[in-house]
Amino acid sequence: MRIPDPALVVLVGAAGSGKSTWAAAHYRPTEVVSSDALRALVGSGTADLDASNDAFRILDQVVSGRTRRGLTVVVDTLGLDPERRAGWAALARSAGLATVAVVFDTPGATCRARNAARDRPVPASVLDMQLQRMRNIRTELEGEGWEVHVVGGEEAAALPTGSPTASAPKASSPTASSVTVRSAARPLPRVTSRSDGPRVMLQISRFPWGEDPLDWLRGVALAADEAGFAGLALMDHLIQIPQVGRAWEPIPEPWVTLGALAALPTDLMLGTLCTPATFRPAGVIAKAAATLDVLSGGRAFCGLGAGWWEREHSAYGMAFPATAGRLDELDAAAETLRALWAPGTKAYEGQRVSLPETTCYPRPVGSLPLIIGGGGERRTLRVAATWGDACNVQGDLEVVTHKTDVLRRHCDEVGRPHDEVEVTVLDVAVVGSDRDDTWARVERRRGRTKAAVYAARHHAAEVAAHRERHDRLFEAGVGTVFLALPDLAGARDVERVAALARR
Ligand code: UTP
Ligand code: MG
Repeated sequence: MRIPDPALVVLVGAAGSGKSTWAAAHYRPTEVVSSDALRALVGSGTADLDASNDAFRILDQVVSGRTRRGLTVVVDTLGLDPERRAGWAALARSAGLATVAVVFDTPGATCRARNAARDRPVPASVLDMQLQRMRNIRTELEGEGWEVHVVGGEEAAALPTGSPTASAPKASSPTASSVTVRSAARPLPRVTSRSDGPRVMLQISRFPWGEDPLDWLRGVALAADEAGFAGLALMDHLIQIPQVGRAWEPIPEPWVTLGALAALPTDLMLGTLCTPATFRPAGVIAKAAATLDVLSGGRAFCGLGAGWWEREHSAYGMAFPATAGRLDELDAAAETLRALWAPGTKAYEGQRVSLPETTCYPRPVGSLPLIIGGGGERRTLRVAATWGDACNVQGDLEVVTHKTDVLRRHCDEVGRPHDEVEVTVLDVAVVGSDRDDTWARVERRRGRTKAAVYAARHHAAEVAAHRERHDRLFEAGVGTVFLALPDLAGARDVERVAALARR
């Protein structure tokens, strides 16, 4: 089962059913609000029932504060009071959060045994009543509109009873693995074949290479190859873009850099994502990409876009036409690449382009993939359908599905089979080794953006969740995912996400 995130997660189970243990195994301590812990905070201890009113007042406030911020909150109480549940659900719904009830279907005998072993056991008759209430709880919760997940039954009963919560096994306990696959505790899966997932390339947008740029690049490239990434894509900008870093951070000329990468012993495909048509005359782009293809033994690809950032154009003394003009340039550049990469030297008379000859040697080794970047529906996707081997878009499943439909319509209109133009996705993702690590990364990178917003925008999660997301993109027809890590520091980050690579 996979529990939505963010969500309001209300635990429902009798005393000793394992609620607090489960919460500690799956969430960070600050994400869990427990009536027992609050009783101890405002009263004499976890079982101080006189402190219940105070404890629940604070608990409600925590639920309200976290849901309002779009942050996950796990409510660790018995969960058996429908009025309290309704109050929490209302808070979550008004914040647009999923409402999830996790039901602990632990056998009564197990609960009784655990309860008996406690310092202050719940009276037997009270526990019996709780277990009685649990019988129909699923129907009750579903009737109230909760998304119900069940933990337990046999697997919960199989766990040892009576061990203190603090020393309870985390990653290794069966209940822990039933929700979030903790990749750090498992060996990395070997590279899978293309048929069961998208090809994944690493997009590099930041270059924190310190004193030895070439050594840093070599480390990243060799790690990517070893991990099984299909290729490397370099961003093509003249000044580091604000979405990624600061203006004084290094952002190398990509075709030169790719030349250096081509010299390394790897099977990686190498290219840009994306080269703006505004930066270089199209013929020079054609020449650079063809040269890279030859130097790398046919591993080059070329991403081509319209350019979007005025500042870098004016800083480097380049024209930055209005959108329509840039799209004209993109269209013409794509056509020029096609003409210059084609066999022969004959004159070219085309739609926007005419050339007196097409003498371009060395010629690409094979067919050099041309990826048109951008999701502009009227023009950019039209250029992709006309000249591209692929289009590259950004967005979640819904957006990508829609862009795919639009692309296909353009393909129909220009008479190209749908499968000749692959859909690729640039996926800027925060990938953590566990929940703690994921959220630490969000905190480090989010700047002034709200944590929940940043996390959602970058799908902040552990490796397994990203793999599933890539699977869904693949099912929707995405052939290649360009994975960008906003906190890429070097080769170790590439190794860390190796389970996402599939060659
Ligand atoms: P919990 O303390 O997690 O239960 O487990 P709970 O549902 O939150 O109980 P209340 O409602 O707060 O009273 C009870 C005992 O069972 C052990 C824990 O270590 C703890 O001592 N336990 C729990 C296991 O041994 N294995 C499990 O999978 C879960
Ligand atoms: Mg508890």
